[in-house]
Amino acid sequence: MEKVRPGTDAARQLDGYVMSTLFYEPSTRTRLSFEAAMAKLGGSVVSTENAREFSSVAKGETLEDTIRTVEGYSDVVVLRHYLAGSAKAAASVAAIPVLNAGDGPGQHPTQALLDVYTILREVGKVNDVRIALVGDLANGRTARSLAYLLSMYSNVKMYFVAPDVVRMGEDIKEFLDSKGVDWEEASDLKAVAAEVDVLYQTRIQKERFQDRPEDYEKARGKFIVDSKLMDILPRKSVVMHPLPRVDEITPEVDADPRAAYFRQTRNGLKRLQVTAQQTALFFGQVWPEQSSS
Ligand code: CP
Repeated sequence: MEKVRPGTDAARQLDGYVMSTLFYEPSTRTRLSFEAAMAKLGGSVVSTENAREFSSVAKGETLEDTIRTVEGYSDVVVLRHYLAGSAKAAASVAAIPVLNAGDGPGQHPTQALLDVYTILREVGKVNDVRIALVGDLANGRTARSLAYLLSMYSNVKMYFVAPDVVRMGEDIKEFLDSKGVDWEEASDLKAVAAEVDVLYQTRIQKERFQDRPEDYEKARGKFIVDSKLMDILPRKSVVMHPLPRVDEITPEVDADPRAAYFRQTRNGLKRLQVTAQQTALFFGQVWPEQSSS
């Protein structure tokens, strides 16, 4: 899809199709990248952000009834919801495809796709990669989905570095064991950082601790990526983060070429690399090299 250019047939392939984005939780990257992708492919979008407040959910409508309604207006639903399993529940009543854009502390599969794509671009391989998943691994759906997806590659080594109150779920560890994936839990981020190709940092998800704020206090600030940690990270390794971040990567790291997290977010919707020559051709202008050949 990186090769799709404005004005071409490829950029019209979703002409006449409508995507609905139903977001029950906040989002910047996921919702806007889906909507921009639809626009770039010639389709249209109907959208509700903050669906709990700005849709009939506020009047007590169930997710299932909302999906049965929305499918009458669109060809595909992109759903973000606060409950794990909600995308599956929505898909079970929907006659159109439902894309999971994050279901509570469950899964975030499209983030995992762009994460693997980022690893491939940044490290040059996915097989044989050594990756540290760091931070809130209990609630971090991106880390959970990435662990699933990486299990499809060979010889991947995963390190789970998390505060005790938010360790990686048993379901993921059992799944990885069933696939024969090499993983270990670690508590020394410095030692792990010296070993890995990818350090995948995540946010401690404050919104998941509403009934146990004391656990949030135990988890926050425990593992920080700062310039001292970058001194330990190998020269060819990269730092990734699904974003948004709070304080788990300090701003001085942003200038380090190994900080890949803003490149990563752009990989969710590859920016069109339109050259001046392509722009000229699009507007029917003659490019100097053309006229001489
Ligand atoms: N990475 C991610 O899902 O970001 P948003 O919450 O901003 O969509």
